[in-house]
Amino acid sequence: MALWSGRFTQDVGELTQRFGASLPVDRALYVQDIAGSKAHAAMLAAQGIILPHDNEAIQSGLDDVRASIESGEFAFDVNDEDIHMAVEGALIRSIGDAGARLHTGRSRNDQAVTDTRLFAKARCAALMQANCDLRAALMSQADANKDVLMPGYTHMQHAQPVLFAHHLLAYVAMLERDYGRLKAARTAADASPLGAAALAGTTYPLDRFQTAEALGFSRVIGNSLDAVSDRDFLLDLVYACSVSCLHLSRLCEELVLWSTAEFDFIELSDAFSTGSSIMPQKKNPDFAELIRGKTGRVVGDLVALLMTLKALPLAYNKDLQEDKRAAIDAAKTLEDCCRCAAGMVATMTVKPASMLAQAEKGHLAATDVADYLAKKGMPFRQAHAVVGHLVLLCERRGCGLGDLSLADFQAESDLFDADIADALDLRAIVEARTTYGGTASVRVAEQMDAARARLETD
Ligand code: ARG
Repeated sequence: MALWSGRFTQDVGELTQRFGASLPVDRALYVQDIAGSKAHAAMLAAQGIILPHDNEAIQSGLDDVRASIESGEFAFDVNDEDIHMAVEGALIRSIGDAGARLHTGRSRNDQAVTDTRLFAKARCAALMQANCDLRAALMSQADANKDVLMPGYTHMQHAQPVLFAHHLLAYVAMLERDYGRLKAARTAADASPLGAAALAGTTYPLDRFQTAEALGFSRVIGNSLDAVSDRDFLLDLVYACSVSCLHLSRLCEELVLWSTAEFDFIELSDAFSTGSSIMPQKKNPDFAELIRGKTGRVVGDLVALLMTLKALPLAYNKDLQEDKRAAIDAAKTLEDCCRCAAGMVATMTVKPASMLAQAEKGHLAATDVADYLAKKGMPFRQAHAVVGHLVLLCERRGCGLGDLSLADFQAESDLFDADIADALDLRAIVEARTTYGGTASVRVAEQMDAARARLETD
């Protein structure tokens, strides 16, 4: 018999019971549910709504329920429908009438969203930590490979040489923004709906500020209808997870490419690779691929939640029960992805010689040769055309710009001199890009210092 069955003469069928139950999902929120109930009971006693000894029985009874869940003894039963009734039912079975007073002035509507907000806050904190750990792993690879030069790409075509550290720090920058979004999502979740009751508030003299403070919420939601209906905070969390997963999928796509024979820029450690059941030689970047793949599911979680909320009238509707699955999945998936990516990045072997060998292909110095002419007075557009001809000449001969003779250069423009050799040097090209945020090693070192400082305060 459900705790609400007073006005019913018939139970729902077994399938309907299963269909309507959220227990398989929201049992993950038992810690928050019990904390919420303890705070509510203590406030009821402080306000003289229940007697002190009832509160004491509730407090220790709830501790026992928690212990029994944690020891694995607790018998979860789908007939309890959700974690709220599972905990309350067990409490009443164990302490009787005192337990039956717990739900005074409360509804599952404010209870469920209180639990969800507490859960979201805790998940944000864990995700912020995982985000920092991944940033630290990227930064230590950047630091260990300070001088490594690689081809930078646009359109996946060789463009200009960059420092590998510069490339990694671009991911650190994305992750720093992700951290900001997670922090904002935590702030959004950090408001107490408890005391809104079913939708309209309650006739009991509840102290909503007391329960908010006891639960660590920094503010109280000011409209009881909004309190039970708002799931924006979960959208913020799942959006933050989606964007961060998307960033990880970009990183992982590069790790996959870089570990091909064609690139050969890195080798993933065995601990982050798998073999093939048929091809004995294979070493596959499965985990990087999986992070890329799981990103699709997390974005799906965001779309699912957006669609659940679309056109939902006030106040609580059972549709809202679908909110937790998406949020729990998105947060858990991102945390796992961050941890896995951090391990993968920390343990990969970087191959500077292959990166350099690739950087020597594809005429990466072309922009700098054009700049050489422009700095000697030729309008840049003309210089661009001159170097275009030189590149065409190289393509016809199957050589690089560095293989052309001074005479070849001078045949295109008499502004060329012996010092053109400097414009062709990849390291000099990198070091010359000293604009703020550029790839010169001084600028990359500055980025690194700034990223370190942010990591320390995050
Ligand atoms: N299991 C529900 C949820 O997760 C809790 C509250 C439902 N309230 C109700 N009156 N059906 O949203």
